[in-house]
Amino acid sequence: MPAFADPSDQEPCVQWPLPPDCLEAQATAWAPEPGPLRLGVMASGAGSNFEALVQACRQGNLQAEVALLVVNNSGCGAQQRAERLGIPCQLHDHRHHPSREQLDRALVASFQAAAVDLVVMAGWMRVVTPTLIGAFPDRLVNIHPSLLPSFRGLDAVGQALAAGVTLAGCTAHLVSEEVDAGRILVQAAVPVLAGDDHASLTRRIQMQEHRILPLAVALTAQQLGEPD
Ligand code: GAR
Repeated sequence: MPAFADPSDQEPCVQWPLPPDCLEAQATAWAPEPGPLRLGVMASGAGSNFEALVQACRQGNLQAEVALLVVNNSGCGAQQRAERLGIPCQLHDHRHHPSREQLDRALVASFQAAAVDLVVMAGWMRVVTPTLIGAFPDRLVNIHPSLLPSFRGLDAVGQALAAGVTLAGCTAHLVSEEVDAGRILVQAAVPVLAGDDHASLTRRIQMQEHRILPLAVALTAQQLGEPD
């Protein structure tokens, strides 16, 4: 047992010098007309980030609504959460699409039919193509469990543990054609504690993901509304 509490359980070490009520302040700064921002979400796994987005909307911290969840794995946790939360969910199984482009064309069609303004990759474990990126320019957000540009790609938490870093974290960023390399929106740092294993570090990183992802969505929406 560590001899001290993990401060990240209470307070995130956010890269920005944000005030405690930053999420509310940033989220309410962008008030779309005539209705709230419509979000599309993509998820492959447990869906905890998807649920964090839904709760941020429902609690009024993010002036938005999740209009559609798309999953690529039938029966995954995200799909089960969507059923419980009453969010429309569509399955686009990548195994039924002969190429990445064809999968992404199907995703674009679904999100456009749902009239979403912005799309969030909340644990989407597939490489996306210019087909999807180009359909949502400057409005496709990804969450990644490392302090980018460190530890891009698969199993970022495992990479951080193997490298022996003492500071891990998560990054919300815009998606570009190079994997995990788009413009950084928000980061949170999480200390690696003595005795941490993959599960414990992942758990604490995800607690911070759930805080920074709604903020990153608010920032992205705000920037879309600003003149060039
Ligand atoms: C999250 O930790 C997210 O950062 C990661 O998958 C997890 C999904 O958890 N994404 C990536 O690794 C993308 N490269 P969730 O399904 O509980 O939200």
